Amino acid sequence: MNVYIETYGCQMNEYDSRLITSILASDGHGMVRDVGAADVVIVNTCSVRERAELRVLGRLRHLRGLMRKEAVLGIVGCVAQRMGDRLLREIPGLSFVVGTEQYWKLPDIIESAGAGRTVVNVGTGAGESYDDRPGLDEASLCEFVSVMRGCNNCCSYCIVPYVRGRERSRATSRIVDEVAELVALGTREVTLIGQNVNSFSDEGRGFADLLGAVAGVARLQRIRFATSHPKDLSDEIIDAVGSIGKVCEHIHLPVQSGASDVLAAMNRSYTREQYVALAQRIREGIPGVALTTDIIVGFPGETKQQFRETVSLMNEIRFDSAFMFRYSVREGTHAAGLADDVPEEVKIARLETIIGLQKQVTSEVNAALVGSSAEVLVEGPSQKNDELLFGRSRAGKAVIFPGDAELAGRIVSVKIGSTSAWTLHGGDPVLS
Ligand code: 5AD
Ligand code: SF4
Repeated sequence: MNVYIETYGCQMNEYDSRLITSILASDGHGMVRDVGAADVVIVNTCSVRERAELRVLGRLRHLRGLMRKEAVLGIVGCVAQRMGDRLLREIPGLSFVVGTEQYWKLPDIIESAGAGRTVVNVGTGAGESYDDRPGLDEASLCEFVSVMRGCNNCCSYCIVPYVRGRERSRATSRIVDEVAELVALGTREVTLIGQNVNSFSDEGRGFADLLGAVAGVARLQRIRFATSHPKDLSDEIIDAVGSIGKVCEHIHLPVQSGASDVLAAMNRSYTREQYVALAQRIREGIPGVALTTDIIVGFPGETKQQFRETVSLMNEIRFDSAFMFRYSVREGTHAAGLADDVPEEVKIARLETIIGLQKQVTSEVNAALVGSSAEVLVEGPSQKNDELLFGRSRAGKAVIFPGDAELAGRIVSVKIGSTSAWTLHGGDPVLS
């Protein structure tokens, strides 16, 4: 059958859509890019904030209208896991609902749905890690590789442990094999992903050992990873990032708030001071590192003073960039039991304040790079102007520069001439 997949949410969902593609391909199904040509339409969903969830539900209703009449529509991922059969009542014409641990069953489920039976499968408990994923037949220059799944942290605002289950790591050998398979298909950069990637553990070997093992894959040029939790980013990992040449100098380290009492209510297990000290160790141990973060404003009870502490933390750390959100109540989490008492307009104003501040800081941090040279992996023509090339620096920053499209896939050195909040602009590339 012809299958169309649309993906929302984090890098793990991107990876899972690829996993679903290979599970279905090994069962004889093909992928299509046009929803009107599909026999099966699958939407892979995110439930981390209510707005994202509502948007995806709207999209599902809309897709039904774009599909051929006889095609079947299914929802997978975190919203499927969270809402289960309630979705059948909300989305007319929905044929299947499949949770995050049931993707192996999709070939059978699609067959049943095609025969007119509605299927809901959101079973958990097996601790599925998709260790034995089927082989791939094509790969991009930069790819994600899942190394662990789930989360044991229970941050009070977060739905992830409920929709992704307990932490479980893949076997090192399977991860290394998958990276080698991708490299044979042309990949040169991998991002090792997990909800809490630094707590990776395989028979006593931790994440620093995994970095060493993946770095051993010949012809792989770069390794990135995300997301780090401050409690698991050990000195050993900092040393590994600083000393293994292939590992890029970028740490995504969500802080969430700059106020220690809000952090305690969020159950983050560190104080502001501990976070600041960790950021300092990272910067000392990894020269040139980019530090990025996630921040939530308007957590229950967040006072003006506590919000100011977040602002002052941002000024103190000067993150390279940040994803910023207003707090969204997620049913079933601990924080859902607290009064959501910061008015929406206050949340919006606080969010605008920190977005403006971060834009300013990012511009200044980038401006300081003018005159320096960046090592760039060339990805291809720039989307906005195909006479220019696009690539990322080791720190993960977008770099635009002139050059021949044949440089795609090569590592070059680019001298930075000017910068903006989002992009570095460089001169002629030099092959390194
Ligand atoms: N409301 C707002 N933002 C949230 N995040 C997670 N849960 C919520 C929530 N309930 C944010 C956190 C996390 C990022 C992926 O999403 O900042 O790091
Ligand atoms: Fe969204 Fe979290 Fe699920 Fe990723 S794991 S898709 S961020 S809810």
